[in-house]
Amino acid sequence: MTLLDEARAIRERAYAPYSKFKVGAAIRAASGRIYAGVNVENAAYPEGTCAEAGAIAAMVAGGDTEIAEVAVIADCPEPIPPCGGCRQKLAEFGKGEVKVVMATLAGATRTRSLAELLPGAFVSSHLEHG
Ligand code: THU
Repeated sequence: MTLLDEARAIRERAYAPYSKFKVGAAIRAASGRIYAGVNVENAAYPEGTCAEAGAIAAMVAGGDTEIAEVAVIADCPEPIPPCGGCRQKLAEFGKGEVKVVMATLAGATRTRSLAELLPGAFVSSHLEHG
């Protein structure tokens, strides 16, 4: 299965009773292992979490902290762009050249690098003093 296939498969398990907008995400770590996540909504709407955040949490819990590739899929008119918060979360673990494959259920895809999605990301090096 491709990374996008993994994202498509896990998407079925999204918990999205409020938006009805199911999202699946899959991350290939530098180790080669694959981690998947779905959006998990909540009756207290702001407490919901994105699919990318779920995949990142699974990755870190699994012992990986270096992202090699990302795939995200949803049933939308054009390939789903990760939200701003998820771009920042992905940038924590992926270098700028990491590819993010965005897709629709209908089969359209668009690939951009993390740096293209979040130019000038705030990263750990900015926490250094002076
Ligand atoms: N969502 C994601 O899971 N990832 C994104 O990058 C965009 C939005 C989810 C959050 C919410 O559950 C639903 O899609 C509608 O915004």
